[in-house]
Amino acid sequence: MSEQARRTPVGPPRRLGTPTPAHLSSDVLERAHQLISLYPEPRSALIPLCHLAQEQDGWLTPEAMADIAGLVGVTPTEVLGTATFYDMLHTEPVGTHVVSICTNIACILNGAAELLEHAESSLGVNAGGTPIDGTITLEEAECLADCDRPPCVQVNHRFVGAQTPESFDQLVAELRAGSRAADIPNHGTLIRVRRTTGLVADPEQVASERADMAEAQAQRAAAAEAAKTASDSAGAKS
Ligand code: FES
Repeated sequence: MSEQARRTPVGPPRRLGTPTPAHLSSDVLERAHQLISLYPEPRSALIPLCHLAQEQDGWLTPEAMADIAGLVGVTPTEVLGTATFYDMLHTEPVGTHVVSICTNIACILNGAAELLEHAESSLGVNAGGTPIDGTITLEEAECLADCDRPPCVQVNHRFVGAQTPESFDQLVAELRAGSRAADIPNHGTLIRVRRTTGLVADPEQVASERADMAEAQAQRAAAAEAAKTASDSAGAKS
């Protein structure tokens, strides 16, 4: 088999994402392009773009994943495969508040199982479920790194401290009433204030550096090919 044939993948051609993003808003797209410019390879920005899309919609919709795939040059399936690896990314709709109860060792020894049972009963859903009003998604979590305040509870990845069944009900009532909006923004919001300095790259400089990198790669490939040809030819003569 020739070298070219050996390198050519078999199977159907890869279907990359939407060539022109249709779902992400213009603001999100602008930020997406800024993020992509920070990395040597566009696909390295995949996870930050997933967070951006999740901030827009509250979860990662198929349409957003198709847009992201097109932006970074991968298939929507590759975006989905990456997103499903990470707990913070949700590929199905979730409530505006994702409530996570840790049931790992320090928390289970301090009432986490009873708290989770109470939460399931009071919300009327099993862990992983969302009551019909769409405000809360209940989640059973592994260690959340707040082991000294068991049983540990997070809402939208913000720590809310140890909870009793009574304080949990109070917390849920506050979330539903919107009175915790100041300290717990809706699901998907990582930061409220965007940086305007620091993490910004000059697009022309990035394009120039990418061109230099591609040229260097091409030169290395040509040198390796020449060395191989010389070696083959020396072997044939001996
Ligand atoms: S065991 Fe629950 S936060 Fe670590």
